[in-house]
Amino acid sequence: MDEMSVTSHSADETRRLGTKLGGLLEPGDVVCLSGDLGTGKTTFVKGIATGMGIAAEVTSPTFTLVVEYEGRIPLVHMDLYRLQEGSAGENGIVTGADLAEIGFQDYLEGDGAVVVEWPLGAVDGLQDSLWIQFYRHPLPRVDERDLRVRSTGTRSRNLMVEWMKQWLF
Ligand SMILES: Nc1ncnc2c1ncn2[C@@H]1O[C@H](COP(=O)(O)OP(=O)(O)O)[C@@H](O)[C@H]1O
Ligand SMILES: [Mg+2]
Repeated sequence: MDEMSVTSHSADETRRLGTKLGGLLEPGDVVCLSGDLGTGKTTFVKGIATGMGIAAEVTSPTFTLVVEYEGRIPLVHMDLYRLQEGSAGENGIVTGADLAEIGFQDYLEGDGAVVVEWPLGAVDGLQDSLWIQFYRHPLPRVDERDLRVRSTGTRSRNLMVEWMKQWLF
C-alpha cells in the first residue's frame, strides 16, 4: 500500500486534512504537493501549519520561494512555481542552480519539516518523501478535490498510513 486517495469536499476539509498531517510531521520529513493552480495546495499547507502549532498566517511564498515558520518544529514552506522552466518571466529560464541558491539541500538536512509546492524535476530524485497530487473534479463539483497520496520510502509510508488512519477512523 504505497498509494492512497482521499476526497475533500471543501476548502475547510482540505485544511483539516492538512492539520492532521501537520500533527504527525517530524524533522526531516518532506511533503511534495503538486497540482494545478487553485487546486488547494496552499490551503492544505495552512492546515499543516495549524497542526504544527504555528499561529502565524501562512501565505503563498510564490515570490519569496521559501518561508520558514516556528512551531512545534520548524515548517519550511517552499513554492517553486517561479523556478519552473518558462515561468521565470523576463529573466528567462531558471536552472537547478537556483535550487542550490535557496539552500534547498540545507533545508532538507535541517531540523524542520519541508513542504514543497510545485516540486520540480530537480526534486524528483529526492529522499524518502510523501507526494500529494491535487485534482479538481469536473463541473459542477467545484469545491471537490481528490488528493492522491504516494510514499517513496519507509518513513513516508508510515506517515501516510498513520495520517489516513487518523483521518478515517
Ligand atoms: N476542496 C477544496 N480544497 C481546497 N481548496 C478549495 C476547495 N474547494 C474550493 N477551494 C478553493 O480553491 C482555492 C485553492 O487555492 P490555493 O490553496 O491557493 O491553491 P494552490 O496553492 O494549489 O494554487 C481557494 O480559493 C479555496 O477556497
Ligand atoms: Mg499555492
